[in-house]
Amino acid sequence: MPEPKNNGFEPNIIAFLCRWCSYAGADLAGVSRMTYPSNIIPIRVNCSGRVDAEMIIRAFEKGADGVLIGGCHPGDCHYVNGNYKTRRRVLLLKRALEQVGIDPKRLHLEWISLTERIKQLGPSPVKIDPANRCYQPK
Ligand code: FES
Repeated sequence: MPEPKNNGFEPNIIAFLCRWCSYAGADLAGVSRMTYPSNIIPIRVNCSGRVDAEMIIRAFEKGADGVLIGGCHPGDCHYVNGNYKTRRRVLLLKRALEQVGIDPKRLHLEWISLTERIKQLGPSPVKIDPANRCYQPK
């Protein structure tokens, strides 16, 4: 059997999450007692546009193996165009990271819109039965 390439390596991932979309999702996961990997450290920001180059570089300097920025979908930013600024910033920063020997794939920008995703999925297949205070399939 081949040895795993990472020898049990567990990465430290800093996730800068917009409070309006991705952080709300992570928070909801916690409230719902869902789990996500403990090696992801979420940091709430008011908008992905708030995440500047210095914050990302500092995360790598302090030992992050990867940095995730979660923001609202283009057109959904609560501060009009913060996510567009983030997209441009991340493109430039990826080039800069490559120049200093950091694989640009370690920096990831993700648009997260729970509303759009749920619209595509449709109504939830479960509902809470108020009499029994438990989930019931619809
Ligand atoms: S408010 Fe979410 S990315 Fe701007």
